[in-house]
Amino acid sequence: MKLITNIHQLLVTGEFLKPLAGKEMHELPYIENAFLAIEDGLIYEFGKMEDLHPLAVAEVIDATGQIVLPLWCDSHTHLVYAADREDEFVDRIKGLTYQEIAQKGGGILNSAKRLREMDIDTLYEDAAKRLESLIAMGTGAIEIKSGYGLTVSSERKMLEVIARLKENFDIPIKATLLAAHAIPELYKDRREDYIKLIVEEMIPAFAKANLCDFIDVFCESGYFTVAEMETILTEGKKHGLQPKVHVNQFNSIGGIAKAVEHKAVSVDHLEELTEADIIALQNGTTIPVALPGCSFFLGIPYTLARKLIDAGLPLAIATDYNPGSSPSGNMNFIVSQACVNLRLTPQEAIAAATINGAFAMGIATETGSITKQKKANIMITQPLNSFNAIPYRFGNPQIDKIMINGEFI
Ligand code: NIG
Ligand code: FE
Repeated sequence: MKLITNIHQLLVTGEFLKPLAGKEMHELPYIENAFLAIEDGLIYEFGKMEDLHPLAVAEVIDATGQIVLPLWCDSHTHLVYAADREDEFVDRIKGLTYQEIAQKGGGILNSAKRLREMDIDTLYEDAAKRLESLIAMGTGAIEIKSGYGLTVSSERKMLEVIARLKENFDIPIKATLLAAHAIPELYKDRREDYIKLIVEEMIPAFAKANLCDFIDVFCESGYFTVAEMETILTEGKKHGLQPKVHVNQFNSIGGIAKAVEHKAVSVDHLEELTEADIIALQNGTTIPVALPGCSFFLGIPYTLARKLIDAGLPLAIATDYNPGSSPSGNMNFIVSQACVNLRLTPQEAIAAATINGAFAMGIATETGSITKQKKANIMITQPLNSFNAIPYRFGNPQIDKIMINGEFI
């Protein structure tokens, strides 16, 4: 057994049957001057130092002045990709919009072309390197999407890369089929055939091969309609894939209400939000996910996260790590962004990046909080006055040690 003692602040503690919502997010549960005991890779016990009783301990770690919290749960990424798109970044600086670049053949179609040309081993090695660096920055669970293949074989190739990551990394990884990310060039005049390909070939084959956990659609003007999204989600659900969808990035076209009806686990982006969208969320169990890195990088509006939380809703935050709209997977920066630009308190931002992120990818029974029998996937920060300093010191992860399944890495 390992025992961490004298922890200045231990968060996020307790049992969580539902994501933290509304005021609960600001009332994030934590313990001051705490201990944390770990056995067989799991959280064995925790509490106040004064309640510490004799335990059969093999290793004691003194965490005086330090904060202990769950590793970040990044519930939305496109970690597997072939190449950066820094030329598009420069085009945007010069005045083109994300959509204009996409219409010129850049954007998602550009990434798809590059990915189809890349062999699976290189694709895996690049993704594994990225994942290693994210883990070093405190990411302890991650969702990864396909969506840069856009053909049966290349979507499969992406999902196989994610399957290899699952095999070789010790953190929870979830795979999402996002074949409906853009209409491929070949299908531009017969989009219904591409929807058919997704529904009739990709979903059944990939679900059967156990290559994906969730189904996603980029529901947006110029990409996929609400009706197309519904067709794809319906088929996905038939094959056991729960929806997690891209909606309301540039326009509110009714995708949120339909995703809620389809019992989506999460709706992600939400840079554009109407009152009707908020009401739809209040009437369901779908978790809204904000992606402030995308707003930062594309210069588009930030999700009205305050409005969502003040409406009593839960909120998760994620990186959206991808080469087009958010080329960083640094959750520490996202937590700072959430405070500065989404106006979340540090408690709210930490709740959004840990336990709520775990709920947004269906893994909250195994990780995302300091709860007995959950995975001991935790970080010990540098000495800090309080957890408020975690988002305050933006740009530099305040991490001293990272533990995965009870082992320091
Ligand atoms: O979540 N908006 C759709 N998909 C990604 C961006 C993909 C890309 O530009 O390569 C996103 O922002
Ligand atoms: Fe995304």
